[in-house]
Amino acid sequence: MNLNIVILAAGQGKRMYSNLPKVLHQIGHKYLLQHVIETAQYLKPNKLIVVYGHGGEEVRAKITQVLPEASIIWVRQKEQLGTGHALKCAISDLDTEGVTLVLYGDVPLIDNNSLKSMLEISENSVVMLTAMMDNPTNYGRIIRNNIGDAVAIVEEKDATNSQRLIKEINTGFYVLPNKYLSIWLDKLSNNNQQNEYYLTDIIKIAVANNVKIDSLLIKDHAEILGVNNKLQLEKLERLYQLNLANKLLENGVTLLDKSRIDIRGSIKAGKDCIIDVNCIFEGNVVLGDCVKIGAGCVLKSVTIEDNTIIKPYSIIEGEARIGKDCQIGPFSRIRPESKIMDNVHLGNFVEIKKSDIGVGSKINHLTYIGDAIVGCKVNVGAGSVTCNYDGVNKWQTIIKDNSFIGSGTMLVAPVVVNEGGVIGAGSTITKDTEPNELTVARSKQITVKGWLKTRNKKI
Ligand code: UD1
Ligand code: CA
Repeated sequence: MNLNIVILAAGQGKRMYSNLPKVLHQIGHKYLLQHVIETAQYLKPNKLIVVYGHGGEEVRAKITQVLPEASIIWVRQKEQLGTGHALKCAISDLDTEGVTLVLYGDVPLIDNNSLKSMLEISENSVVMLTAMMDNPTNYGRIIRNNIGDAVAIVEEKDATNSQRLIKEINTGFYVLPNKYLSIWLDKLSNNNQQNEYYLTDIIKIAVANNVKIDSLLIKDHAEILGVNNKLQLEKLERLYQLNLANKLLENGVTLLDKSRIDIRGSIKAGKDCIIDVNCIFEGNVVLGDCVKIGAGCVLKSVTIEDNTIIKPYSIIEGEARIGKDCQIGPFSRIRPESKIMDNVHLGNFVEIKKSDIGVGSKINHLTYIGDAIVGCKVNVGAGSVTCNYDGVNKWQTIIKDNSFIGSGTMLVAPVVVNEGGVIGAGSTITKDTEPNELTVARSKQITVKGWLKTRNKKI
């Protein structure tokens, strides 16, 4: 069946109290509209049309930035005269065959399986997605005749008292046959309480033209909830996160509390991974088998291999790779473009920036390693610093295999610590060091005899 999808996204979102167009607010670090476009793309429509209005160019620009490959037809609705008018703006871009599925830029959690079910029911007929609500206030109500066929939708503001008691509501999602659409949309009037062209009126027009109305009742109400204010945005964020957490649990990841994890991207995890509370995952995170993530970690676009433990409150900032059997943290910070090989230990208040750390090396306390290549089995003592920046340029430090860097060493780059060298604690190293030798570069300790006596003498 030829499928067109129209996403209505022209609303302003006054109640967000924001300068940002409503559909550019985010859930899981993704624009509301992006969620809907991605869901639409799963259905492989022949045409995908977005009707935009408020903040139009910004919406287009931001969406194009995150979905550069998407072929979207952008249609501008200059004035928001109602949902019927919005769909009418897209009419000249629609095919004359097949069906149009109507989605909303501010209803982000609709599942493509529900939409697929709607499309399966449709035989070029109308299909509405409806829901049963204990409290149907503000929704359009589904009016059925005495044999149970849907015959109209009545908006809350136009409904009679008895119609307001109806609990079956209009979710706003429809499949509509293209061959009638332009005729039907021409028949809409704005003669109602809100003086809007209601798309909902299309149902009674279809009935008058003897076109069958089918409907599908949705069970999971999260899918049809819209965002009009920050309270609803937060509610949907939590529902979205809970859904992702449930999927991780179903796939065998241990979460100590599924309500205390945030995934703002994706996680792929092997077997027997354990994630403690209050961790944030951004971008694409890949975990091997038996990876443990301690409480309060923030991990962005990182691959962590088997059996590695990330201890609490560590931050890994992106495009980083951590090998097998490593121990990172607590309170480690690994910045972009770092490669940590197998069996490395990085401890508290250790910052690694754009550096490679070789197999079996240990950097356990209060240290900065930047723009460096650290070999295998290197030990860096507490409080050591690669002085990589002279105020203008960044320079490289190379620490070769089996070296031992004493505590409090300043390595003034560019500099090489050659293989097997030992650097005495407190050294400031400005020249390349000899392999397999002790290098000490600090002022000699002296004793100033009698100094205390002179100081203590009163003048
Ligand atoms: C609509 C339905 C109502 C349904 C409810 C479900 C109509 C008349 N009513 O009501 O039956 O129960 O959704 O949430 O359709 N939009 C535009 N251009 C416009 C007007 C709206 O793009 O001119 C977009 C908005 O950005 C929004 C969506 O359409 O995403 C819904 O519009 P809104 O006016 O909020 O309709 P509701 O009153 O919620
Ligand atoms: Ca609404």
